[in-house]
Order: sequence, then C-alpha cells, then structure tokens
Amino acid sequence: MDERIAMNELDALVASAETDFAQAALPADLENAKARFLGKSGRITALMKDLASLPVDEKKTRGAAINLAKQAIEAALNARRQALADAELQAQLQAEALDVTLPGRQRGPGGLHPVSITLERIEGIFASMGFEVADGPEIETDWFNFTALNTPEDHPARSMHDTFYVEGAGPDAPPHLLRTHTSPMQIRHAVQHVKRHRAALDAGEGMPEIRVIAPGRTYRVDSDATHSPMFHQCEGLWIGENVSFKDLKVVFTDFCRTFFESRDLVLRFRPSFFPFTEPSAEVDIQFQSGPLAGRWLEVAGSGQVHPNVVRNMGLDPERFIGFAFGMGPDRLTMLRYGINDLRLFFEGDLRFLRQFR
Ligand code: DAH
Repeated sequence: MDERIAMNELDALVASAETDFAQAALPADLENAKARFLGKSGRITALMKDLASLPVDEKKTRGAAINLAKQAIEAALNARRQALADAELQAQLQAEALDVTLPGRQRGPGGLHPVSITLERIEGIFASMGFEVADGPEIETDWFNFTALNTPEDHPARSMHDTFYVEGAGPDAPPHLLRTHTSPMQIRHAVQHVKRHRAALDAGEGMPEIRVIAPGRTYRVDSDATHSPMFHQCEGLWIGENVSFKDLKVVFTDFCRTFFESRDLVLRFRPSFFPFTEPSAEVDIQFQSGPLAGRWLEVAGSGQVHPNVVRNMGLDPERFIGFAFGMGPDRLTMLRYGINDLRLFFEGDLRFLRQFR
C-alpha cells in the first residue's frame, strides 16, 4: 500500500472526526459521533482489524500511524467534550445571573391602624383625667357578660341570633361566649379593686375611688356597612361615695371636646334603658362647625350603675354610687376622619390604611 496515500486517508479520517465532533451540539450527539470513529464497529477499530492481513514491517508503520490518528481523534473528542461542558455551565450561569444593579426592595415604614390610633387617644385622654386602663378576656362567662350585669334570662342580647356562644366548655361548665360588650370589665375590675381594699372596707374605712376605662374587642352576630361581627368598645366606670351624674357629664364632655379637638362641641344625655344602669342615658354629640355640624350623633350609652350591679361588685349600694359609660371607638374613628363604611377598617386594604400613617 502507498504509505503517502494511506497517511492522507488517516488525515482525512481525523479531519472528518473533527468536523463531526464540532457539529455535535449536545453531549449525546458527541457520544454518537465518538462511536462512529472509536466504537467497537467504528472506523479506527476497523482499520486496526485490517492490520492483521499486512506483512510484519508494514504492520509496524501502519499500526503506529493508526495509533497517531486515534490519539488525534481522542484529543479532538476531549476538547469538544470540554467545550460543550463549558458552554452548558456558561448557559446556566447566564440563566441564574443576578442583576446586582437592581435597586433593593423597599420596605415602607408601618403605621398604626386608625382604630388603634383612636384607642391610644382615648386612653391618653382618660389617663390624664385620673382613669386607669384595664384589659380583660374576650371569651367570657355568662355570669360576667349578662347575669352580674343585671341582665335577665329573657333579654334579647342573650339569644343565639345575637351572641356567639362557645362550644366545648363541657356539659357542666358554665356557658361561655364571645363578649358582646366591654361591660363585664366593670365587674371584673371592681371585684379586684374591692378585694384589695376589703379589710379597710370591713373596718368601716373608705377605699380609693374606682376610675377605670376598659377598651377592647367585642362580638355580635351582625354585619353591614355600620355593623361588624367583631368591633370595638370602650367601657368606663367611676365609683365612689360622692360621685354624681354631674361628674360623668363633665368628664364625658371634656373627653369628647378633647378627642374631636372641638371646644364648642355640645353634648345631650337622652333618657334610655340598659339593664345595668338606672337611670340610663344615650349620649349624643353635636358639632357646631364642619361637615357634620348641626346633627345629633350618638356616641355612647351611660347611666348610674344599678344597685344590683354595685352589689355584684361586692359593694354596698347604700354607700357607693357609680356611673358607667360604653362607647364605640370604631364609630368615633369614622366620625373623626369622615369614614362612611365600617368594613374598611377590617379589609386590610393598604390604600385605605396608608392614609393614617
Ligand atoms: N354595654 C352597652 C352596649 O353594649 C353600652 C353601655 C351602655 C355601657 C350604658 C355602659 C352603660 O357602661 O352605662 O350596648
């Protein structure tokens, strides 16, 4: 065999392998191309087999030449393997690239909910007038929510349609419910206060006056633009030996004028009925200027604490007299900011809430 031609044939084979490898776009294509040249029935293997039929001296040079070709093909294969692996890595890096020039995510400053702003305002104003702030359970017993407050068995507020009763307290356990008002805090706070001063009271001495407000969440089966099943109330209680309706009027008037920043705001106490007060009054306010001027707006219930309730506090109603009020911070917030739908408070819409930040 002409050695020169044989060499050219091997060069051509290497060149053809290089071309095939270069055209392999995926690792699987490359392995297929490899099999065509280096595999069991590949071109190089076939050339090796042909060697057997050559004379010994030719076998040596021819064999060495085929080996060189084989090495060249293997080198080309490895180079292409590396190139494909590099390209894949490059593509992955590109796909997962972080754009470090993007501006950071902004986390805006938070703010208080408008009703929280109102509650803080109420607490601040009453604290400045010598009132404590008390806190109590939202799941109440029938005793604190109704019975102790002189509310009879057949009172409509005790019906299933108006009140969320809590199951699972056990067959013998006293009924529990989500408190329908903050008034049970009158009893809870007064009982604690009286307990602390029991010895002095029994000895015929006095006790410091009870002056407390109790803001918090309350619950009723009710839902429309001005009622929500969860809403807020703030209770007030003032008990002493020389307290009168006049004191309640002065304090409540002062509170409303300060809360609404309106010195000429007028109050009206309208006779009403609550089981736990006698007499009872609804408190209306009237602005003298601004968008609500001239209208009477109901803001609270109030009254002189009923003797039965004073007794349930552990006090002698012949000696102690008390005044109570209950107001709706949600409604106060609506009036203060001119909001017409209570549901806005509980939807969590940031476009609404951001306005109070
Ligand atoms: N608890 C009453 C209600 O939810 C409000 C109320 C009225 C509270 C008169 C009082 C009061 O303390 O004296 O409708």
